[in-house]
Amino acid sequence: MFIELDTIDSTNNYIREHLDSLKTYSLVFAHHQTKGKGRITRFWYDDKKSITASLLIKNVKGDVKHLSLITAYAIFKALKELDLDVKIKWPNDIYVSDKKICGVLIETIISDTITAIIGFGINTNTEAFPDNLNATSIFLEKGIETDNIKLAKRVAELIIDAYENVEFKEIVRVNRENSYLMGKKVRLNYYGDGIEGYIYNLDESGNIIIDTGIAKIGVFSGELTLIKDEK
Ligand code: BTN
Repeated sequence: MFIELDTIDSTNNYIREHLDSLKTYSLVFAHHQTKGKGRITRFWYDDKKSITASLLIKNVKGDVKHLSLITAYAIFKALKELDLDVKIKWPNDIYVSDKKICGVLIETIISDTITAIIGFGINTNTEAFPDNLNATSIFLEKGIETDNIKLAKRVAELIIDAYENVEFKEIVRVNRENSYLMGKKVRLNYYGDGIEGYIYNLDESGNIIIDTGIAKIGVFSGELTLIKDEK
């Protein structure tokens, strides 16, 4: 089921509010969000020119934590098809030319079963961003205009295919080999003041391994900030 909205607060919210009437794999696309949500209470910049969409997965099978890397894998593939030089910033931001081109917000609803709402924002036709955002778009990178609905549908198709058919081992391999942060110094904003170290690996379960110099710490969720001008 594909739902195209003109304006909505957030496509993730729309799915949450219409859960009963929506089937699994429904894709909700909005031309404009008035309260687009980012991870960790951030907002999502929206000038009506880029993709804001959410995919619903009901009755999630397997480990729900895997959806982050599955989504990153699928968006990576979709943007590679457009010949972009794409990198994955764990767990599921997508970067091109050291700038963010896509962000993902996965929300889960847990009852007898698990429901996941996979929201993705892909900067396609945006021509300029506020100075404080380290962001880019397909237009800025390639000078081409994107058909937003076509690309959103392609991303949904690739997420569903990866979720249903691709071994998690392969998902991890692609995430590891195309990691934006591998070997770089980062701060993990997760435990109190956070920890600092170098990204050492992405393990078979999808945990990022940070080498702090004292220990190698595996983390399954959180937000990593790149510490620039070192290594
Ligand atoms: C982030 O990078 O912080 C995540 C951004 C996620 C934005 C998308 S746009 C579609 C969906 N609806 C929302 O309100 N947020 C996500």
